[in-house]
Amino acid sequence: MVTSSVAAAQRVESLSSSGVQSIPKEYVRPQEELTSIGDVFEEEKKKDGPQVPTIDLKEIDSEDEVVREKCRQKLKQAAVDWGVMHLVNHGISDDLLENVKKAGKAFFELPIEEKERHANDQASGNVQGYGSKLANNASGQLEWEDYFFHLVYPEDKRDLSIWPKTPADYTEVTSEYARQLRSLATKILSILSVGLGLEEGRLEKEVGGLEELMLQMKINYYPKCPQPELALGVEAHTDISALTFILHNMVPGLQLFYEGKWVTAKCVPNSIVMHIGDTIEILSNGKYKSILHRGLVNKEKVRISWAVFCEPPKEKIILKPLPETVSETEPPLFPPRTFHQHIQHKLFRKTQDTLLSKKV
Ligand SMILES: [Fe+2]
Repeated sequence: MVTSSVAAAQRVESLSSSGVQSIPKEYVRPQEELTSIGDVFEEEKKKDGPQVPTIDLKEIDSEDEVVREKCRQKLKQAAVDWGVMHLVNHGISDDLLENVKKAGKAFFELPIEEKERHANDQASGNVQGYGSKLANNASGQLEWEDYFFHLVYPEDKRDLSIWPKTPADYTEVTSEYARQLRSLATKILSILSVGLGLEEGRLEKEVGGLEELMLQMKINYYPKCPQPELALGVEAHTDISALTFILHNMVPGLQLFYEGKWVTAKCVPNSIVMHIGDTIEILSNGKYKSILHRGLVNKEKVRISWAVFCEPPKEKIILKPLPETVSETEPPLFPPRTFHQHIQHKLFRKTQDTLLSKKV
């Protein structure tokens, strides 16, 4: 266990509130990356060029088959073209979304010493709790964010002892949100299954079903950054999950790498951003995309986002393109691997890329 004084020194929040005018070198991105980092508020305003699709789920269960299929088809197409979308009319009430956001924000507004009582201990493999990225590669590169990470579903796998006790409604609202997201995930997986010509329940089963699909929530807290043109809140990556659902506090930051350019996601009120992750990309043999994305920071406003990663069990399932997605003209694009192996493979590749000074 790290002592609180050492842990506090690692928090980006304390760095931000210390009033430093220039950020430590560990946060400065490599030269070739800097050329693509702009002012996020200006970027968000841009109307030209491709935009992340917005999918209205209002008709997802319509009794009119034509209407229902049209809605489902749009979702499928967005998963094929982009692998990320804004979901609106998703069935989760605005009140619940607001309460989840209020609760997470209230936790992060506690003094750092209070939050440190929930600090995780990455060195001993305990990643649940309050944390900041530790340098895991030769360059010592860091990201401009602190986070709170915990498993939220299935309920019998949660460790409620590490969940914030303040604010008092944190556990209740976060649990309810997780339950409702879990149902939404089932619906989405069923549409994606049918989109591949599979039975409705197939992808759900392939990622572990109700018992084994793990929903992990990561609240990302991006403090104001004195030199946002030099840093990233989250570096470019694809999600390893099956699906990821994201809420945010209406401060822009998310960028998607689409057709060779970084596209800044607009802030769509009451929407949930949904990513297709690597797991579904593999199972679908690349028909659904896991898009490269990253997070920008800014000088003026704290950004908070709530990501829920829906992940298959680490060892129990072998991930590989489903036989129905493979043919003579469409050979398997991914060798078989467990989820754990997939994580290791990505970490290894990243370390190699860093050592070779390649852009990751
Ligand atoms: Fe991500």
